[in-house]
Amino acid sequence: MDQHLNQPTALLPGDVRMPLLGFGTWQASGEAGYDAVLAALDAGYRHIDTATMYGNEEEVGRAIKESGLRREDIFITTKLPPDRVGRERETIEASLRALDTDHVDLWLIHWPPSSPADSIPVWRELLAARDENLTRAVGVSNYSTAQIDELIQATEENPAVNQIRWSPSLYDRQRHVEHRDRGVVLEGYSPFKTSDLSDPVLTRVAAAHDVSPAQVVLRWHIDHEIVVIPKSVTPERIRANADIFDFSLTAEEMRDIDALGG
Ligand SMILES: NC(=O)c1ccc[n+]([C@@H]2O[C@H](COP(=O)([O-])OP(=O)(O)OC[C@H]3O[C@@H](n4cnc5c(N)ncnc54)[C@H](OP(=O)(O)O)[C@@H]3O)[C@@H](O)[C@H]2O)c1
Repeated sequence: MDQHLNQPTALLPGDVRMPLLGFGTWQASGEAGYDAVLAALDAGYRHIDTATMYGNEEEVGRAIKESGLRREDIFITTKLPPDRVGRERETIEASLRALDTDHVDLWLIHWPPSSPADSIPVWRELLAARDENLTRAVGVSNYSTAQIDELIQATEENPAVNQIRWSPSLYDRQRHVEHRDRGVVLEGYSPFKTSDLSDPVLTRVAAAHDVSPAQVVLRWHIDHEIVVIPKSVTPERIRANADIFDFSLTAEEMRDIDALGG
């Protein structure tokens, strides 16, 4: 059985299963990016996060091909830079060409358009791309709850996902609930850049499970059913960051880590 089937997933509209653990690729470009994605697939990640802006879609696509894995066993996210307003279709077509695939699994608006008047037209272009099967699901990134509500009110279609900065120190229970209430899966980014890995709570919990504080941070996301996409170009870290499915946190440990966001 393929390893991804054992990993926890979030269910997106259209019966799309999104692995809760993904691999971040920002600042992993060129041959280093190719090597990192290949190492990640070898380590068991089945979800890769890229973006037009990262300039590495060609390397991501090549690593996926070289891995020998089936396309349908890998979840690929890419993102539209909102300055491409009016050129959405040509942008996703360029992403698909670079990734060497006929569809992605998730296409996100990378951040809200600078002109609020563009918000709804851009969102409608994403929905059109989904309806034409260029992507299986569509969502947003760096959106506030109010900005999500605006899209839902105008189109009656909720973004499947909102990808935002998230970590124990940014934990915001209310914001998580707001996403759940709207059927929007919360996807966190920069889990380590926004964490103090020498924090005493994280080191205590890590010692109790014989894992690292970094692994505790990732497991905390999974136990909250929040998607997490750690990035690394270091083979040992790539492997360690995926090795988080043999332990889980107790309710008390979760509460203690949540409190870091206070
Ligand atoms: N939507 C957005 O606007 C947005 C913004 C930022 C990021 N993202 C996405 O989220 C992904 C993750 O965020 P990120 O790249 O900003 O930051 P991150 O994953 O929090 O941190 C990456 C940094 O942590 C290091 N690292 C990795 N594993 C580690 C470990 N086990 N222990 C200690 N350090 C470790 C990496 O070093 P090495 O690489 O040298 O190993 C790298 O310097 C990005 O790659 C991108 O896909 C999206």
